[in-house]
Amino acid sequence: MSEKFSLNVNGKAHSVEADPDMPLLYALRGDLGLNNPHFGCGLAQCGACTVHLDGHAIRSCVTPVSAVGDGKIVTLAGLGTPEKPHPLQAAYIEEQVPQCGYCINGWIMTAAAFLRDNKKPTEAQIKDALSGLKCRCGAYGAILRAVKRAAAMMG
Ligand code: FES
Ligand code: FES
Repeated sequence: MSEKFSLNVNGKAHSVEADPDMPLLYALRGDLGLNNPHFGCGLAQCGACTVHLDGHAIRSCVTPVSAVGDGKIVTLAGLGTPEKPHPLQAAYIEEQVPQCGYCINGWIMTAAAFLRDNKKPTEAQIKDALSGLKCRCGAYGAILRAVKRAAAMMG
């Protein structure tokens, strides 16, 4: 049975009516029209659906909308602006990372949470933090260069 949920997304309050078990991803994309988090596997295996919940990277495809509570959600759209991009967004452009672009959301949102808590990470630490993400286009080398570039900007 549907219930009403208040979601704080990118600093704005939204009301969503949904089954409590509905994935947060569906609320973000279907109800709020926020299309940065993508549906990839739906099984917490690829990271395409990643958003931040109270600063932590979570996989919204397996997070029930009822589990969010008063938590603050940030999507890729809330990370930076065209005028003031997040260092990762700037680095992605500088390194010309995207091919099809489907995976970008997962890599940037996961790396953003990691870099915020880990200044000056080693390459091994970056690889470890991003090890659960997939890029079907195989842009792994460019992704690593971009994350290292952003780490240098943020460190
Ligand atoms: S769609 Fe959520 S991890 Fe793949
Ligand atoms: S750029 Fe296509 S899946 Fe990563």
